[in-house]
Amino acid sequence: MTENLDPGARAAAEQKARKAARDASRKTEALDEPGGRKEILPPWEQDAEGISLVDTHAHIDGEDFDEDREDMLARAKQAGVIAVVTFGDTMEASARAASLAAKHENVFAGVGVHPENVYPFTKDDDDRLAAWAKGKNIVAIGEIGLDYYWEKDEEKRKLQRKMFVRQLALARDLDLPVCIHDREAHGDLMMILKTEGRKNRGVIHCFSGSWEMAKELLKLGWYIGVDGPLTYKNAAKLPEIVAKTPADRLLVETDCPYLSPLPYRGKRNEPAYVRITAERAAEIRGESLEDFAAQTTKNACEIYGLKVGI
Ligand code: NI
Repeated sequence: MTENLDPGARAAAEQKARKAARDASRKTEALDEPGGRKEILPPWEQDAEGISLVDTHAHIDGEDFDEDREDMLARAKQAGVIAVVTFGDTMEASARAASLAAKHENVFAGVGVHPENVYPFTKDDDDRLAAWAKGKNIVAIGEIGLDYYWEKDEEKRKLQRKMFVRQLALARDLDLPVCIHDREAHGDLMMILKTEGRKNRGVIHCFSGSWEMAKELLKLGWYIGVDGPLTYKNAAKLPEIVAKTPADRLLVETDCPYLSPLPYRGKRNEPAYVRITAERAAEIRGESLEDFAAQTTKNACEIYGLKVGI
C-alpha cells in the first residue's frame, strides 16, 4: 500500500503502522493481567496535601491528548504532579514538545529522535534540535537510544547506534542531560555509554535491565527511571531495583500514553498516574509517599535542572 508514496509519506506510514502495533500490544497486555486493585479513587480525587511529584518522562504532544490536554494537565496538578517532562520522539513531535514547554509553566521538554524513528541526520537536523534546545523550559536531549525489540534488521540497528552516538554528542555540545530508551539492547547500550557516552549524563528511562546492569549505570553516574510496569504482577526484576537503588538516583515517570499502571493497564496513560507508580515504589522502599515524592522530585530537579516552585 505504501509503494507509491514519497519517502516522507512512506516514513509516516511506517510510523503509523508501528504505532498501531504498539497499540495492539498495549491492548493484549491488558488481557493478561488478572484482577488488579479495583476500587481505588483516581489519583486526582485523592488528597494531594504535601505531595510534590514530577512525571519525568511523558509524551503529551500527540493526538492521544488532543481532546483533553488542558484537563489532563489540571488532573495531574490535582494529583500532586507539579511538573511534567515531555519528550519528542520524532522531529515533528520535538517541535510540538518544545512549543508545549514554551506555553506551560510546569511543562518541560526534551527534544530528539527515538531509535524507532531514526534516519540519517544532516547538519540541518542537528541545527534544528540545537535551536529548539535553547528554547524555554527545554531541559534535555531525548528520547534517544536503542530498540532491538522492534528493530530486527542489522543495518537499521547500526543506524540506530550511529544516530544515538550523534545525539549524545549534540547533548554534550549543548551541555544538556539525555533521556535514554533501551529495549533489548543492553550490551550495545553499555558499550556506547562507556565509550562515546562516557561524558554524558542523564537518565535510563523505563529501566528494564538487571540489578547488575543498574549497578554499573549508577557507578557511571546515571539516574534510573521507573514506570507503570512496577505495579504489574510480572514486574520481574523491577521491585528489586527500586529497593536497592540509592534514593538520590531514582526517578518516577509514566511514559504516557503508554504503560499505564494498574488498575489502568491497557488504557491510555497520563501524568497523574505517576502517583500510582510512586506509591508502589514508596511501599517497596518502606517510605511514605510524601518523602519518596520529595526525594524523587529533588532528583528530577537536579538532573534536568527544573525550576519548579517547591
Ligand atoms: Ni518514551
